[in-house]
Amino acid sequence: MVFQKALFWLATTVLASLVCGQSNAPPGVDTWCGKPYQSKDKSINPGGQFAFPSLQKDPLLYITVHPRYTIFLETDGIGSFIVGAEISHVFGEPFDAPPSNLNVMKFQIYSQEIGSILVSQIDLNTTGNIRNFSLAQFPPRLTPYPITLYATIPGSTKTFKSTTEIYVLPSRTYGSAVKIDNLHGGLLVQNNINKYKGWYPIFPNGHYVDGGYLTPSTFDLTHLNTYAAQGFNTINIVPDGGRPDQAYPIDSLSKYWDRLDELNLFNIYDMRFAFQNSTRISDQVALWKDRTSLLMWYTADEPDGWVYALNSTKLAYDQLRELDPYHPVSLVLNCQDFYYEEYAAGADLIWQDAYPVGINATHSIPWGTVCNTTYGDCGCDNCVGSLTDVATRLDDIQAYQAAIPYALQKPTWSVIQAFGEQSYWPRLPKGSEVLNMMMLSVNHGAKGITYWIYPSTDDVNVGSGELGKVFGTDLAMGFLFGTEPVRELRVEGASVDASAWAVGGKVMVGVANGLYFSSRGKVKIHLPEGIKVTSVESLLYGNKGWTIEGGMLVKVGLEPLEIALLVLS
Ligand SMILES: *[C@@H]1O[C@H](CO)[C@@H](O)[C@H](O)[C@H]1NC(C)=O
Ligand SMILES: *[C@@H]1O[C@H](CO)[C@@H](O)[C@H](O)[C@H]1NC(C)=O
Ligand SMILES: *[C@@H]1O[C@H](CO)[C@@H](O)[C@H](O)[C@H]1NC(C)=O
Ligand SMILES: *[C@@H]1O[C@H](CO)[C@@H](O)[C@H](O)[C@H]1NC(C)=O
Ligand SMILES: *[C@@H]1O[C@H](CO)[C@@H](O)[C@H](O)[C@H]1NC(C)=O
Ligand SMILES: *[C@@H]1O[C@H](CO)[C@@H](O)[C@H](O)[C@H]1NC(C)=O
Repeated sequence: MVFQKALFWLATTVLASLVCGQSNAPPGVDTWCGKPYQSKDKSINPGGQFAFPSLQKDPLLYITVHPRYTIFLETDGIGSFIVGAEISHVFGEPFDAPPSNLNVMKFQIYSQEIGSILVSQIDLNTTGNIRNFSLAQFPPRLTPYPITLYATIPGSTKTFKSTTEIYVLPSRTYGSAVKIDNLHGGLLVQNNINKYKGWYPIFPNGHYVDGGYLTPSTFDLTHLNTYAAQGFNTINIVPDGGRPDQAYPIDSLSKYWDRLDELNLFNIYDMRFAFQNSTRISDQVALWKDRTSLLMWYTADEPDGWVYALNSTKLAYDQLRELDPYHPVSLVLNCQDFYYEEYAAGADLIWQDAYPVGINATHSIPWGTVCNTTYGDCGCDNCVGSLTDVATRLDDIQAYQAAIPYALQKPTWSVIQAFGEQSYWPRLPKGSEVLNMMMLSVNHGAKGITYWIYPSTDDVNVGSGELGKVFGTDLAMGFLFGTEPVRELRVEGASVDASAWAVGGKVMVGVANGLYFSSRGKVKIHLPEGIKVTSVESLLYGNKGWTIEGGMLVKVGLEPLEIALLVLS
């Protein structure tokens, strides 16, 4: 294994933050996630904890409107909204009319600029309603159209309002267009592979890669071709922080990118060193925005850990929207609860990178201090040191996002630990641990997976490619992008994390055994309420032996960290 030295410290927290944002620590005190981590310094409340809204006594009317997709193309013909009109005790506004009048509420989704009512039929006390409208009335352009949802209740003097915006972009004949399905977080692409007709889904699965290894300065495609053959459909080539301008060598990257285009291997273009400089953003976007295999922009790498300025991600995001509305923006958060809302405001997709393998979650290996919520850095913020930390972290950030009024639920991805033998992480993860964290991630709603960092061990490289390909089959994507998983199914006889996706009369079930030793007993997984299954239709991944007994998914004996993905009918 060859790593560039520069890449080591990107995964670690040994460097003090260079661009300081909102830290409670006095000057000269190095922090990670706002917590002092050197034994010479004292514990400090880092601040920035997410404030969940409190329950209100009186019912509120909570109306929401969002575009179904982050962008529409003029060629789509039909646009759609996701609409909600809830009676809520958390969000919304009080109404001064008798509740029975709510049933005769009037709704309008209106474009002021076009002067047109797009939708007027909405059902009260429902969420996630899809309402179509014609795009023909919107001249395509690069800036969004503002949209307002109005609701009025007979007998009330109040007008309820919720706003959003839609992009209706000129159709493409070059480059790529990538949209998020805001209903369930799936990613859809249009590019030269489908001749710019319609959209196809992808379940992104690929590593951050060491550029020195995969794209060496002496042009050589050997490692890149191997990577592609291992089944990955995305890549994030990490720019070399050791170069004076911390950028990619343009001519060299251009040649490698030609190969990515040929392979339709999607690049997640990494601007970790550039995103706080608007000139560098403009320069880099101009270079690469029209590549057919550009998937998305990636801006901040652990901005919360480094405590970058709280507005840094949003400023970059707004600029990227203007320069290139055809591609979404992603970033990764490392802290468990540190200014989530501010940093997450700067991306369409939020990734988490809890790295729990081999750590000591309560005692910092490099710094020799205690780790808790106000002090210390153990390499995985507020973790317990179990593989399930990745699932918990996904749950946490999804819960934060869901608790921001009027906001969309942004897709979450996992960055999975594929490294070790350094600082906080004394050992490398085993292949089975990486596969288990992949399954846990998908079970907890991840809509894409990446890994830090390629090349890892052969076991990890090969295994992560193979399982990722399974998630990327049309069959699996139909479930993963078609609904939300019902999580933490009741399980008897084992310590297993299991989720179910029910779509079109079938159920996909994901299983991740949490134990490092094998067991011989019978494991019984209860399916969600109201779902009746009769047989195992197909085993997409894992060992044979699963059957249906008494409406439950059953197997005798589990291997250490065994995982499975099955479709039941
Ligand atoms: C709204 O829906 C919730 C959940 O389905 C239900 O408990 C509540 O009674 C409904 N409220 C009204 C006013 O219909
Ligand atoms: C909305 O439009 C899509 C095509 O874009 C179509 O598949 C769907 O059935 C339509 N839904 C409704 C409710 O009309
Ligand atoms: C931003 O980047 C440009 C171009 O690389 C450089 O000339 C400029 O000094 C940078 N600005 C800051 C504040 O670092
Ligand atoms: C962003 O935040 C920094 C640090 O708090 C501040 O100095 C700067 O003025 C802000 N920039 C904008 C455009 O708001
Ligand atoms: C963590 O480190 C402390 C202090 O060295 C030690 O007592 C404890 O056993 C370690 N825990 C684990 C899980 O390694
Ligand atoms: C964290 O540990 C430090 C050092 O032992 C201690 O001073 C502080 O009170 C602890 N914080 C919490 C929240 O327990």
